Amino acid sequence: MLEEQKCRILGKCKIVNFPKITDFRGNLSFIEEKHQIPFEIKRVYYLYDVPSGATRGGHAHKELQQLVIALSGSFDVVLDDGYDRRKFFLNRPHYGLYIPPRVWRELENFSSNSVALSLVSQVYDEADYVRDYDEFKRMIENGWK
Ligand code: TYD
Repeated sequence: MLEEQKCRILGKCKIVNFPKITDFRGNLSFIEEKHQIPFEIKRVYYLYDVPSGATRGGHAHKELQQLVIALSGSFDVVLDDGYDRRKFFLNRPHYGLYIPPRVWRELENFSSNSVALSLVSQVYDEADYVRDYDEFKRMIENGWK
């Protein structure tokens, strides 16, 4: 595989800023599909009551795209495309992390009372998951066939 192809997937992971309307009554942010995020939202789920020291994720997706937001509190998202690894710290509800398909992710270091909101491009389908890291590496080597 060419060097530039190796780097490409992690390079597509990025922080997305949402509009923030500040007001003495409290702030408001909004997300519109295809404007702030590059996919149609098919499902929303959220992690909460995460015990201190717990790790979530630990998988990659074949097709699913995702946007993760720290609606409350903070946590780290460690992303790995099989060649490079990068850690993102999320702690504000007016930005999120876009994760394209074929990226291994782990969510860790949850603060107390944190809420991790995910907007995703597919309904739940276990067949889209790769939950074993060695299999993830094999999928990369085989071009995800
Ligand atoms: P899991 O994928 O392990 O959570 P995470 O990767 O975010 O830590 O999901 C935990 C369980 O919840 C697993 O049995 C699948 C189920 N689940 C659903 O039924 N629907 C969903 O939308 C999600 C995200 C998980």
